Amino acid sequence: MTVREILATTTRGLEEVSIEEIEEITGRESWVEHKGMVGIRGSEEDIIRLNIFGRTIYRVIMLLKRGKFRNLDDLYTECRRVDFSRYIYRTQSFAVVPKRSGEHDFTSLDIGRIVGQAIIDSYMESEGVRLKVNLRSPHIRVITEVRGERYWIGLDTTGERSLAKRGYRVFNHPAPLNPAIGYSLIKIAEWRSEESLLDPMCGGGTIPIEAARAALNKINERDFDFLRFYFLNRRKYLEILKSQEKPKGEIKWIEGSDINPKYIKGALMNADKADVKSYVKFTVYDACERPLDFEKIVVNLPYGVRTPRRGLKETYHCFSKNLKLYDWKCLVVMTAEGRLFKKIHGEPDREFKIQYGDLDTDLLIYHK
Ligand SMILES: C[S@@+](CC[C@H](N)C(=O)[O-])C[C@H]1O[C@@H](n2cnc3c(N)ncnc32)[C@H](O)[C@@H]1O
Repeated sequence: MTVREILATTTRGLEEVSIEEIEEITGRESWVEHKGMVGIRGSEEDIIRLNIFGRTIYRVIMLLKRGKFRNLDDLYTECRRVDFSRYIYRTQSFAVVPKRSGEHDFTSLDIGRIVGQAIIDSYMESEGVRLKVNLRSPHIRVITEVRGERYWIGLDTTGERSLAKRGYRVFNHPAPLNPAIGYSLIKIAEWRSEESLLDPMCGGGTIPIEAARAALNKINERDFDFLRFYFLNRRKYLEILKSQEKPKGEIKWIEGSDINPKYIKGALMNADKADVKSYVKFTVYDACERPLDFEKIVVNLPYGVRTPRRGLKETYHCFSKNLKLYDWKCLVVMTAEGRLFKKIHGEPDREFKIQYGDLDTDLLIYHK
């Protein structure tokens, strides 16, 4: 087995949740590389498995080199040291995908240019061939991340489309939840398919759909970039697909409801596309008035923007009042108005702070 260093990108603030998922998928320990990125020491098979089964992660990168640098010349030298002929076939094209954060006197475009040149020069030296650059649809994407004085260079094994893009979203809710976060919330609630689950403000249905997909072992299947790696055994991919575990047992009850009938119609369309429609019940209900006798309640509350019928504060108040009437085991709430919800409903047993787009968002976990 060739040991590889692998990186997986995830939601900033949910690294711990991804570490747990990665350990479940690969059986290997992983660590926080930096905010939003987790590292794993594994094999090519682990790269395949993470792409197929990963639900909390966005992208899997095969690390080629990491380290410190002072300026672009340093970055060029570091990158030039990698023998790219071990990873890119002579007729394949490549593109550098740069990402930069921190204070620098150069831009991401400069990183792309410098690293691209280093790859071409390194290849020319070892193979006597000038590799082709194709920025639009390259065979190989070389991810280069620069954060402050540190850099990471690796091969994208996933492809341009992040793993969070599951392909079932045919209806677009105006404030849709990222499916990777939706699944993370379910994981935080420690929901198991033999327990009942409710999202009482489900919008386009992301949370119930993610729960059903997980319970049914629905996997990510697509034209992954690793399928173009000439050094990787593709048979392994087919073997893993074939040996996929069948769902364990029945799903007890998954329900999603929303006050807006238009969203429930959309949620049904999404569930149909995700092939889980017969495993989730979707209903139109006011969360302040509906029964909440479920073992696990996971909800992405409305925030900031207008809410139907009532104002935000009033909605939080009446939902909290309704929650107190029932005997659920665990409640997971995601909101950018965490302070308001805590003031109304009380301090949670545990909380996560995550970065969701530009918003600092709270995940609050309550147990009864
Ligand atoms: C942030 S969105 C949820 C988005 C959803 N997680 C998704 O992925 O599409 C909040 C939802 O709460 C719903 N909502 C607001 N007040 C409600 C209430 N009193 N009862 C039920 N749903 C409500 C809104 O209609 C909206 O769809």
